Amino acid sequence: MAATVFVLNGPNLNLLGTREPDIYGADTLDDIAGMLEDRARELDLEIDLRQSNHEGHLVDWLHEAQAVGARAVLLNAAAFTHTSVALLDAIKAIRTPVIEVHLSNPHTREGFRHKSFVGMAAHGTIAGFGPTSYLLALEAAARLA
Ligand code: DQA
Repeated sequence: MAATVFVLNGPNLNLLGTREPDIYGADTLDDIAGMLEDRARELDLEIDLRQSNHEGHLVDWLHEAQAVGARAVLLNAAAFTHTSVALLDAIKAIRTPVIEVHLSNPHTREGFRHKSFVGMAAHGTIAGFGPTSYLLALEAAARLA
């Protein structure tokens, strides 16, 4: 059976495609899901992509990733990246590797985006490549032992 990679998306990412397209581009989350599914098939992986505007859902899904034995989690926690001690603790509480993903490069943006609670515990971070950030993170997940 193919290993599963969770792809968890935080607040406002349901609006990708229309949300600040100059920063986040024209692709929707469904477009990104399709792109990931195509590549996952080639890598013999399964994608379980979810989005929530609620912090606790992301915490629950991180726990679930470990409970079901997911290979890895790709996590774009969006604004919660910069605020959430709960997500930091959840990532530290599980053994499943978490790869932090961002469409934009937060380090070239406002100062409050330079701090990442997710990045303090993530296996690694990929940011700044638009939807390709997700693809690169999937490639990295596929190469994890
Ligand atoms: C984001 C960057 C965050 O700073 C921002 O709050 C988002 C999206 C990105 O993918 O570039 O909502 O995570």
